[in-house]
Amino acid sequence: AEKGLKDYYKAFFPVGVAVGPSALKGPEAALILQQFNSLTPENAMKMGPIHPDSTRYFWNDADAIVSFAQAHQQRVRGHNLCWHEQTPRWLFRNPDGSTVSKARLLKRLHDHIDTVVKRYKGKLYAWDVVNEAIADNPQEFLRNSEWLKICGEDFIAEAFRYAHAADPKAVLFYNDYNTERPEKMERVYKLLKQLKDAKVPVHGVGLQGHWSLQEPSEKELRTTIERFASLGLQVQITELDVSVYPWEKEKRARRPDESDAYTSEMQQRQAEQYRMFFKVFRDYPKVITGVTFWNISDKYTWLDTYPVAGRKNYPLLFDQQLKPKKAFYEVVKF
Ligand code: G3I
Repeated sequence: AEKGLKDYYKAFFPVGVAVGPSALKGPEAALILQQFNSLTPENAMKMGPIHPDSTRYFWNDADAIVSFAQAHQQRVRGHNLCWHEQTPRWLFRNPDGSTVSKARLLKRLHDHIDTVVKRYKGKLYAWDVVNEAIADNPQEFLRNSEWLKICGEDFIAEAFRYAHAADPKAVLFYNDYNTERPEKMERVYKLLKQLKDAKVPVHGVGLQGHWSLQEPSEKELRTTIERFASLGLQVQITELDVSVYPWEKEKRARRPDESDAYTSEMQQRQAEQYRMFFKVFRDYPKVITGVTFWNISDKYTWLDTYPVAGRKNYPLLFDQQLKPKKAFYEVVKF
């Protein structure tokens, strides 16, 4: 068999990919097995999909991914246990429609985490326990989510304690995006420092890695990794992709005259970004313990619909025919 990313990086870290159940057959499954030795369910383990009613769990999709991984000796990272998006409708409400109390919400969080983490105990090696709890507005600290409004900041520490109690061997992560921007990095650092000082069982930080041709710079990336390593945390890149468009904050539709061609300049610049990122990752072998791509190939990426609906993006190492791109060869050439 041809060498894959997982083979080139054997001495460094597992190389993973985000998947849904439909990728586990056909040519995509073959590519997954050739290239990756770790899987993250893209959506299947999030609270909305996996716990749709208060008394009912939907395990099929998550189980399918875990069985596939077990059959092929791949690791699995769980994603995620507590997030403000993709929450089930029932979660924050009482049956009469009023908002739940803090005590009731924490009980629900506990029962959810306990059930899901125990089901996959010994099969998942890591969990993103809390996802994206920092505010987008740099003037604010924590995101003003339902979690924060109802519980105050306690939900974060509690989520980690519940997960640790359910599977003491699992490596527990706080996961977020734009972590290389100084104003975001400092707030993520502040949160993690608070948790460490309070002896909360948090073991790592997930840098999502939704990057672009413009950012982050090599210096920003190194500074970020070193800053989190200084807290004694391991660092994983959990959702890597390199958008060929500059970051936009507002969602919008593609303009009729707007090109979404994948130019040779874009391909070249993207290959340089990927080469630089992986060079940096290899420079921190004790700290970087995993790198996961957010989707398999340019055939399907969440960036085709976000932030600009209907504009094709090309953020991954494999093209729409699942063939390795220029960027792939830069990543494995060292
Ligand atoms: O499954 C439903 C389907 O039943 C329904 O008919 C359809 C209509 O909208 O939606 C389907 O759900 C979609 C789901 O993906 C599964 O395809 C949701 O609308 C859609 O919003 C959801 O998007 C996911 C997004 O998280 C949710 O915010 C993306 O696939 C997923 O890639 C993305 O992943 C996140 C990470 O979890 C956290 N970090 C950022 C990253 C990118 O946004």
